[in-house]
Amino acid sequence: MNIRPRRLRENKRLRRLVRENHLTTEELILPLFIKETNKHKTPITSMPGHYQHSLESLIEEIQEIQQLKLPGVMLFGIPEHKDAQGSAALFADSIVAQAIRSIKKVAPDLLVIADLCLCEYTSHGHCGVLQTKNDGSYHIDNDSTLDFLAKQAEQLAKAGADIIAPSGMMDGMVAAIRQQLDICGFEQVPILSYAVKYASAFYAPFREAADGAPQVGDRNTYQMDSANSHEALREAALDSQQGADMLMVKPAQSYLDIVYRVKQAFPHLPLAAYQVSGEFAMIKAAAQHGWLDEQQAMLESLISIKRAGADFIISYFAKDFASARQ
Ligand code: PBG
Repeated sequence: MNIRPRRLRENKRLRRLVRENHLTTEELILPLFIKETNKHKTPITSMPGHYQHSLESLIEEIQEIQQLKLPGVMLFGIPEHKDAQGSAALFADSIVAQAIRSIKKVAPDLLVIADLCLCEYTSHGHCGVLQTKNDGSYHIDNDSTLDFLAKQAEQLAKAGADIIAPSGMMDGMVAAIRQQLDICGFEQVPILSYAVKYASAFYAPFREAADGAPQVGDRNTYQMDSANSHEALREAALDSQQGADMLMVKPAQSYLDIVYRVKQAFPHLPLAAYQVSGEFAMIKAAAQHGWLDEQQAMLESLISIKRAGADFIISYFAKDFASARQ
């Protein structure tokens, strides 16, 4: 036997020398939740170590994030006021706008990515404008949502968001947002599009965290069917044509084939993958039972996403990873 792959696995130094993929703290973005009515942070039960922040606790968290040298955060707001239209999303002093302004005061160089969607602001919890028909049936109206998203993007850019990340899966959302940002003088603000977002059971802990579960029905008329993969390329192509600066695949771990295919098909666009709340919670819960090693499982899950082709990862493990590397 003259060919023995095991020769290169003989010791740690050698294994590291021939390691093909690496993940650094610079490639991780931490999602954060900020709740308008909170005076203090409140723990999110299904996501150990994560909180719904108050404006004050958010700043403490930001200081920690800076010490850990994470490059940025992704912000989700939970407003005091919810109504059928989601009006609070357009307030110039919406909770996310306030959060962006206070982060920028203490950490001007930290990248602040603003998630852009209606679901946290609407009483019905859907990502678009809900229209009810006489027979009681309803649908989520695409085109009237676009106008709304464009205005929400303008407010978030005004507040100082570095990147706008629309997550609502409305057709034409990137074009509508790009146009409005350009008109308002924010032609330098990039769009990170949740281009390929599946309807997923793995968002469940997030819906507790963001108080954003749909009150009627589900998201299957706008988020993608998990059985589809060619369609992912169609979605990515549309967002790329509309001017998306970066693409995202979400969730990440059950969709590594999609991450791979999108990166192969659009190598010129930076690709993010979102390791979502349920993917994080599964590892945490199993580790708490002593059923797996949390540190090893975290590293393995993150490197698998990188190996599939993601350029950066949005993950609730971002702080844990960064601390382990310090
Ligand atoms: C809202 C949004 C969701 C997530 C990010 N943005 C929930 C959903 O679409 O139901 C999920 C993130 C996570 O689970 O960590 N549009």
